[in-house]
Amino acid sequence: MPRRLFVTTALPYANGAFHIGHIMEYIQADIWVRFQRMQADADGPRIVHFVGADDAHGAPIMLAAEKAGQTPEEFIGAIQRARKQYLDGFHLEYDNWHSTHSPENSALSQDIFRRLKAKNLVYSKPVEQFYDPVKGMYLADRYLKGECPNCGAKDQYGDACENCSSVYGATALKNPYSTLSGAMPVLKTSDHYFFKLSDPECVAFLREWLQVPGRLQPQVVNKAWEWLDGEGDKALGDWDISRDPPYFGIRVPDIAEEKYLYVWLDAPIGYLASLKHYFESGKAKAKGESITFEEFLCAEDTEQIHFIGKDIIYFHTLFWPAMLKFAGAPYKAPDHVYVHGFIGVSGEKMSKSRGTGIDPLRYLELGMNPEWLRYYIAAKLNAAVEDVDFNPDDFIARVNSDLVGKYINIASRCAGFLTKKFGGKLVAVESSNALIREMQSAAKSIAEMYDSREFGKALRDVMALADKANSFVDQVKPWDLAKKAGGEAALQQACSDALQMFRLLTLYLKPILPKLAQDVERFFAIPALAWNDARNLLPAGHVIKPYQHLMTRVEEKQLGALFGIESVPQVTAPQRHAEKQHHAAKEQSVTEGTISIDDFNKLDLRVAKIVKAEHVEGADKLLKLTLDVGGTTRTVFAGIKAAYAPEALEGQLAVVVANLAPRKMKFGVSEGMVLAASGDGPGIFLISPGAGAGPGMRVK
Ligand code: MSP
Ligand code: ZN
Repeated sequence: MPRRLFVTTALPYANGAFHIGHIMEYIQADIWVRFQRMQADADGPRIVHFVGADDAHGAPIMLAAEKAGQTPEEFIGAIQRARKQYLDGFHLEYDNWHSTHSPENSALSQDIFRRLKAKNLVYSKPVEQFYDPVKGMYLADRYLKGECPNCGAKDQYGDACENCSSVYGATALKNPYSTLSGAMPVLKTSDHYFFKLSDPECVAFLREWLQVPGRLQPQVVNKAWEWLDGEGDKALGDWDISRDPPYFGIRVPDIAEEKYLYVWLDAPIGYLASLKHYFESGKAKAKGESITFEEFLCAEDTEQIHFIGKDIIYFHTLFWPAMLKFAGAPYKAPDHVYVHGFIGVSGEKMSKSRGTGIDPLRYLELGMNPEWLRYYIAAKLNAAVEDVDFNPDDFIARVNSDLVGKYINIASRCAGFLTKKFGGKLVAVESSNALIREMQSAAKSIAEMYDSREFGKALRDVMALADKANSFVDQVKPWDLAKKAGGEAALQQACSDALQMFRLLTLYLKPILPKLAQDVERFFAIPALAWNDARNLLPAGHVIKPYQHLMTRVEEKQLGALFGIESVPQVTAPQRHAEKQHHAAKEQSVTEGTISIDDFNKLDLRVAKIVKAEHVEGADKLLKLTLDVGGTTRTVFAGIKAAYAPEALEGQLAVVVANLAPRKMKFGVSEGMVLAASGDGPGIFLISPGAGAGPGMRVK
């Protein structure tokens, strides 16, 4: 049997857009998944099912929906619909994206609850808690404030004092008030369900589960042991798994009383719900999976793997394995939980409310290449639970010097000669070329690094090979050979060899740069590269397609725009808040049906030169345009075929919307839109700038 992998990333709360921390986690998991998908085991290609979902339940989401004047369903629906553009935009290839607010999750959560209850691992007992009589709701600590029982500081949260750092329980606050209504809370008692994590059988199981070599990172095992071994007030307690209404969640089954499962109980079960939905909607079958959800879940050889951040280790290494284990088959405790650190920007920690200053959507809207970020993050990641720092200068250096300067450079220096002089035809690799053999034999160690999530190390090795490939090109000097009488054979040999190297490097980078690898496969006119292809080389006589530039360099001003520091340098947090408010106020003052100048300025309109215009096979309205937008090239599909012959367009100027999010079309990705006029009658008329305008100029 080939290896079967079931891979997940933590389910993001459905109360906000993705931030760079989410995207980093997804990139890490996606690279790992894509690497696995390139592997074949003795008896066939490796099977990988990779799913995500929104974590839609809980009090914060319920309250956020209320604040937005929406039902929770409407609220989470809008959030969920916005996910796709990020996932597609960063080439995150999930097989399924679902929600914990789903029939699958209700069924699975209630099933697991029932099974745990039947095993006497769930019991109920009264709990005394603060209750907001105005809001009619029990209050979690985060909704309580009051005076510190120790130093008397006002407006302190229900768990700890920001002034004197003392830690206490919410009931110890003096003059407490509800942050939801301002009301004075009252103590009230209700029955809660508890999961008996402290049960000796449970603890024994966890000790054993944690100890399996290679299952978890050592730092993670240590953390979990600390919790297991805690004594006194740090002792491992039972887990409160129910909440009273009003709550947005899944009902506790089999009781008349209205009670809900705590969001952290149903959230990880959402992993399974997404998988179930994937299987039962026929998607898994369409991908060649022949067994059922349950068969897959409990198959001996299925490896269940969760990628998460360091803040949620507790839930994933104690409750989650215990829940699954004691719920029994088809449920099975996870095989691995892989934990990453947090991403910050230039040494600053990311705040949950302010983010980092890198808005992933803005990144895409600015037309920045998603593979730059994938590459940069990969270069920074290792298998340890270490924080990652996004540093703009470092980003520019790694993308421009390494990715473009070293790797892409190999192809751009050699491909043109082959096409121009030899019809794109390769010759066999020179047997004396030891570098190619070295590159081929690196496949194994690079694979091990990917498999163990040492992406940074893998990239260091790949870039060292790229350095050697460049030295090879420097030595053979194709540009000199091209001028030398009788240098043809040597030129064809040198360029062929360099491209063979480029192909191998592409293979090794493919998990990180999937779109680029696809472009390279097209350029080489070869099928999708799999890991085993490192054993082969392109045969003599193989014909490549004409080289088109594969990747542009990142410009400093793009990072400026990303951080919004073009116009406002060094914005501090309060300033930014003030600005947002100001902005909101300004926006409101605009008359209905009109837009503000700020709205208009969001459009990045540029003068573009049509360098190439081509028919698109199978498309009856579209022309494929290659545009020069001032140094960078863009491909745009324009619906102007009826009005223009392609030859007539080449060399003309047009106006392009340069910051339109790239759109995947049947025929390729369109990276913008050219402006054209049309009326009720026939005819489409391209908008072109007046004489004197040049590519890249801003249209305002
Ligand atoms: N909903 C829970 C997870 C439930 S899993 C059954 C949650 N959501 S979250 O949106 O707050 O976080 C989702 C993931 O993003 C977590 O793995 C978290 O660690 C990760 N990150 C949040 N901020 C991050 C960074 N600044 N950097 C890297 N990852 C970060 O927790
Ligand atoms: Zn205090």
